[in-house]
Amino acid sequence: MIKLTGLIKRYPGRTVTANAVDGLDLEIPEGKLVSLLGPSGCGKTTTLRMIAGLERNDGGTIEIDGTVVSDPARRIFQGADRRPIGIVFQSYAIWPHMTVEQNVMFPLRVGKGKVAREVARQRARTALDMVGLADFATRPAPDLSGGQQQRVALARALVRQPKVLLLDEPLSNLDKGLRDRMRDEIRAVQQRLGITTVFVTHDQDEALAVSDDVIVMNHGRIVERGMPQEIYTFPREEFTARFLGVSNSVDGVVASVEEGGSVTVTTGSGPLTCVNAPQLREGEAVSVFMRPESLRLSRKDGPWKGTVEFSIYHGDCWDYHVRVGDDLLRVRVYREKVGIAHGQSVFLSPDPESAIVVPKSGADAGATGDAAGVDDAAAAPTAAKSATVSGSR
Ligand SMILES: Nc1ncnc2c1ncn2[C@@H]1O[C@H](COP(=O)(O)OP(=O)(O)OP(=O)(O)O)[C@@H](O)[C@H]1O
Ligand SMILES: [Mg+2]
Repeated sequence: MIKLTGLIKRYPGRTVTANAVDGLDLEIPEGKLVSLLGPSGCGKTTTLRMIAGLERNDGGTIEIDGTVVSDPARRIFQGADRRPIGIVFQSYAIWPHMTVEQNVMFPLRVGKGKVAREVARQRARTALDMVGLADFATRPAPDLSGGQQQRVALARALVRQPKVLLLDEPLSNLDKGLRDRMRDEIRAVQQRLGITTVFVTHDQDEALAVSDDVIVMNHGRIVERGMPQEIYTFPREEFTARFLGVSNSVDGVVASVEEGGSVTVTTGSGPLTCVNAPQLREGEAVSVFMRPESLRLSRKDGPWKGTVEFSIYHGDCWDYHVRVGDDLLRVRVYREKVGIAHGQSVFLSPDPESAIVVPKSGADAGATGDAAGVDDAAAAPTAAKSATVSGSR
C-alpha cells in the first residue's frame, strides 16, 4: 500500500503558486496498478521520484507498506536504498560493462541488504526467468535489443522483491509493436506477483490498458481518478475528456430535463438528447463532448446537416472534419472504401448514449483540440463542476 498525503514539491526559483507537485492526496491499495497520466510537466516523474526517495518532498507525507518513509514536518526521511521499492526508468540505465546476470545481481551485492554471490546469482536467475530472459544470463548487456534491455531493467527492479514497483514511462523508447507486447508483459508480471505498482505515462491508451485505476494529473494536482472504463466513457472533468481524445465539443443550453436523468440540449448545430446527464438544470450552460466514433455519418439524413471540410485516411478508418454551423466536428468512419469528397453535404447523428455533458466551467469550453492543446484550454476545472457531474455515473 502506498499513501501520499498533501504531497508538495517546490523547485528553487519557482513561485509558491507553481509547485511542481501541489498537495497530492493518493492512496494505492495493496497489489493494484495505478497509472499517473497527464501532459508533459504535470509532475508525474517528480511524484514518482518522491515515492522512490530520489527526491525530497517539501511538504506532506509518504507512507509505504504501513511505514512513514518521509515527513519533513517530523524530520523523517528514508533514502531510496532503505525503501522497499524497485524502479524502472525510461532510459533503461543498464550497465554496459556487465552481463545481463551481473546487471540484475547488482542491487543484491551493494548496500545494506547485501547477500552472498551465489544467493544473488540464484535470485537474479529467478528474476530473469520471470521476464522471459533466463537464456540470456551470460550475454553482455549491450548485445540485447531495446525490448530485452527493458526487461533486464524490470528484472533488476524486481530482484530485491520490493513491496512497490515504480515505472517511469518504461515503454516510450520502444517501437509500437514491442511497446504493446512489453505493456502486456509488465501487466502480467505485476498481476502474477501482486505487487503494488505506480506506472507513469503520458499515453492514454497505455494507461487505459494496464491500470486498475487511472489518476489524471495536471499542474501538479490530481484532476480525476477512476477505473479505465469510467474515465474513458464518462470523464467528469473537461480536462480529462480532452486529454483522452474526446476532441469534439459543442456549447449548448439545457432546454429540458427528462425523467431518468436525460436532458435535451439546444446547440448551434441542432437539438441533442444526452442520456447520462442527471443533476443539470433547465437553462444551464453546458459543453457536450463527443468522441469521433460516436457520431454517425450519413449521406442521406440525420438531425445535423454539415459539410465535409477535409478528410484523413488512416487505413482502417476515415476521419472527416465536418463543419456544422460554427462547429468543426471530427467524425470517424470505419469500413468504408470510398471517401467522401471535400465540400459534400452530409448528415450527422450524435449518439445520446455516449455524449458527455459537463456544466460549462467559464473557461474556453468551445475550443476543439486534442491532448497537445489541452493544457491551457482546460486548466481550471472547478469544484462546483466536479460536484455536479460526479452523479452522472
Ligand atoms: N530538477 C528540477 N529543477 C527545477 N524544476 C524541475 C526539476 N525537475 C522538474 N522540474 C519542473 O517540475 C515540473 C514537473 O516536472 P516532471 O518532470 O515531474 O513532469 P512530468 O509530468 O514527468 O513530465 P514529462 O511527461 O515531460 O516527463 C515541470 O514544470 C518541470 O519543469
Ligand atoms: Mg516525466
